[in-house]
Amino acid sequence: MNVLFASSEVFPLIKTGGLGDVAYSLPQALQTQGADVHLVLPAYRSVLQKVGSTRVVGWLYIQGSHGYYHTVRILSCEPEGFNCTVHLVDCPALFDRAGGPYNHPDGYDWPDNAERFTVFARAICELANDSLQIGWKADAIHLNDWQTGLVPALLEQYPHKPRTLFTIHNLAYIGYFPRETFDHLGLSWHWWSAEGMEFHQGFSMLKAGIVYADTVTTVSPTYAREICTPEFGYGLDGLLRSRHYKLHGILNGIDNHVWNPQTDPYLTKNYTADTVTKGKQASKQALLKYFGVTDKVALKQPLFGLVSRLVEQKGIDLVIQAIQVMLRDTDARFCLIGSGQGYYEGRLRELAAQHPERVMVYIGYNEELAHQLEAGVDMFLMPSRFEPCGLNQMYSLNYGTPPIVYFTGGLADTVVNSTPTTLLEQQATGFVFYDISWSALLNTMLHACDLYHHPKVWLGIQQAGMRQDFSWAKSAARYLALY
Ligand code: ADP
Ligand code: GLC
Repeated sequence: MNVLFASSEVFPLIKTGGLGDVAYSLPQALQTQGADVHLVLPAYRSVLQKVGSTRVVGWLYIQGSHGYYHTVRILSCEPEGFNCTVHLVDCPALFDRAGGPYNHPDGYDWPDNAERFTVFARAICELANDSLQIGWKADAIHLNDWQTGLVPALLEQYPHKPRTLFTIHNLAYIGYFPRETFDHLGLSWHWWSAEGMEFHQGFSMLKAGIVYADTVTTVSPTYAREICTPEFGYGLDGLLRSRHYKLHGILNGIDNHVWNPQTDPYLTKNYTADTVTKGKQASKQALLKYFGVTDKVALKQPLFGLVSRLVEQKGIDLVIQAIQVMLRDTDARFCLIGSGQGYYEGRLRELAAQHPERVMVYIGYNEELAHQLEAGVDMFLMPSRFEPCGLNQMYSLNYGTPPIVYFTGGLADTVVNSTPTTLLEQQATGFVFYDISWSALLNTMLHACDLYHHPKVWLGIQQAGMRQDFSWAKSAARYLALY
């Protein structure tokens, strides 16, 4: 079966979050299970700098905004570390610029995002239908998030269109644009209705994906249920309930080659479940040293970690509140990596300046340090208000770093709370709280500190987490069945 996998980011070529990781590891797993997968993403400047050599497979003339047609090159390559063909949609006017895939270097959204991802969507349709006659036509297209949401609707005009599966990675980003943009992009009038892509006087590319795709999935079973409720549905819960028959929750997997403490090249000392205590001790020492903390006593004190986009979704405000009490009442230390909203970046910098020995902060994106943190801290903070799946808690479990999570979405599906019963049954893998408040988070952190000082119990929690299998095998098979 030929599967075209379309994503606006693919690790390690370009990544802003978990979508990048999934768009790298899921296609590899599908390919291993027998599908012939081709990946497609925009040729951003940074991607072109990373991929190495490419070949031009053809030119397309694609409608953009205001009736303007862009000349788009399709470049193909097999970058190192990929087991499938990668196609790049090369339209320099839209993608060859400094900055992020969705944002200007100053942080605001690119003003032409609607045009950028409409051109991307149109190019996906052409590739899937083999308009360039490269001898490969898709049987199914796997689309991801709003940036690819227009594809199922645009495919209408093709006589033998492939089947479409649309994955929602985060319902909070709906790709919403005003009515004028709809007209300027030359989108068809019959899509402009409440049953189509219209949404609150504008239109939503994510809604288009939900309405017109053959199948809709999201990245965990719990989130699939949550988005059908007003609390998590962003106004789309009614639509999702009405499409219940084609909505599936499939838990993300993780790449066990990239996130494996046994082989991770970024670690000072590799380790397994049997050698976790020694391995993590060496990693903790190295991490503390990186931040200039050489105090021997620090090695014995609980070290909490976090790697996150600094946005409200991730509960960073709760972390900032809880840390202040922990600093006063305990000897715990904190190591936090993230970037995002300026306010939170500023608050973390302040905390680090006030407590240089106890609060270690790295503002920015750093893949290598994220790996070292997963290995070096004792527990991982992930108190997200909602979390479609979340990958970091699974990386933490793999690294013997019990995660502390709120009971929502994929966090609820992957972490087993430490209770007297689960501890006794050796099923406990982390800490879960059930009320989204900083005091509930604080109490859970205190509980974790308490168990941390019982080495035998702690080792049991670490090893139970490390024994879990979060590989893609099962979930990839479910996607293949749906295609
Ligand atoms: P989301 O996609 O909502 O941000 P996930 O948990 O699914 O959340 O995935 C986040 C991914 O991004 C993880 O691979 C995590 O390590 C990475 N990440 C987030 N922020 C940073 C950062 N500042 N530096 C390095 N990696 C980061
Ligand atoms: C989104 C979600 C995150 C999920 C990731 C990959 O960014 O916020 O929960 O893990 O996509 O599916």
